[in-house]
This record gives sequence, structure tokens and C-alpha cells, in this order.
Amino acid sequence: MATKTMPQDQAAAKNRPRGPQKCEIHLQVNGRTEKIWVEPRRTLLDALRLDLGLTGTKKVCDEGQCGACTVILDEQPVYACLTLAIECEGRPIETIEGLAQDGRLHPIQEAFIAQDALQCGFCTPGQIMSLKAFLAKNPRPSLAEIKRAVSGNLCRCGAYLRIAQAGLEAARRLAAEHKP
Ligand code: FES
Ligand code: FES
Repeated sequence: MATKTMPQDQAAAKNRPRGPQKCEIHLQVNGRTEKIWVEPRRTLLDALRLDLGLTGTKKVCDEGQCGACTVILDEQPVYACLTLAIECEGRPIETIEGLAQDGRLHPIQEAFIAQDALQCGFCTPGQIMSLKAFLAKNPRPSLAEIKRAVSGNLCRCGAYLRIAQAGLEAARRLAAEHKP
């Protein structure tokens, strides 16, 4: 059986130390491969917002306290402000911009609207991404489980009850559509 080997120049490039100056990295965001030039210290949050123009992911505390910057990396919710962009090369990243398809909102987004689960909306993308990752693994959650799933997402407007209800409604909508 033939063995696939990496060409020598590619292998050398992969092992070469990079930085502190800008270097080329490739991110897989919402199913697209994006090439950007960033310093290795660039956070995923800044890479998304400033280099790729994906401002749906919000920057609030920028220090891992609020969850506004939550995105999905390798099917897990992560704080993008605590994640380096360079660590994410070759790993699937999902942001709020990837949810709506063919002009239709994702069922979790629809559930937030139906339950009026937002006021200023600043925490909403992070809440929705946390719930998306959670519901993909727990399609029939209890209210308590939903609350735990978004416990890393602060809402200054205090829309927690409606957010939890939206999580339950989202689970029902996803089950009806058999959608992850
Ligand atoms: S902006 Fe990342 S946790 Fe607050
Ligand atoms: S809706 Fe305003 S911070 Fe949550």
C-alpha cells in the first residue's frame, strides 16, 4: 500500500518556528479556508473581527470573563479572546455568521426571536454558539442543563429566563428538523 509522505519543503515549513513577526496562517471558518497574515500573539477573536471582518463575534471583556466572544472550535465552545489564531490552523471554526443558510435563520436564532431572548443583543451570538455546541451533543436537554450550558455567558441585560426558554424551544425546533 502506498504511503503518503509530506514533501520535504512543506514539512520543513510546518516545523519552522514562526514569529514574532507576522506569518501566514490558514483558518477554516464556517467551511471556508481563509488566509491571513498575523503575529503569533493574535487572538482568534481579533483575527475574526479585524482580519476577516466577522464582527458577529463580540469583544467585551477580552479576558475570559463574559463569554461574548464564544465560537465553536473542534465542536467545542471556546472563548475566542483566550485562543490564539495560530493554534486554530486546520481546525474547524464556526461563528455566528455561519448559522443562517440560504437566507433562513438557524432554528436556534429563530427560537431566540420567538422567545424574545435578548435586549441589547450583545451577548446573544455567544449565547447562541454555546447552545449550538451543547444541543449538538444533548438534543433533549432539561432546563437545568440548558442553564448550565450557558453559564459561561454573561448577560448584562439579565435576559436569562428567556435565554433558557429559547434553549428549550431551540431543542424542540432542532428535533423537528433533525438539524445539529
Ligand atoms: S470577550 Fe472573551 S470572554 Fe469576554
Ligand atoms: S441581551 Fe444585553 S447583554 Fe445580554
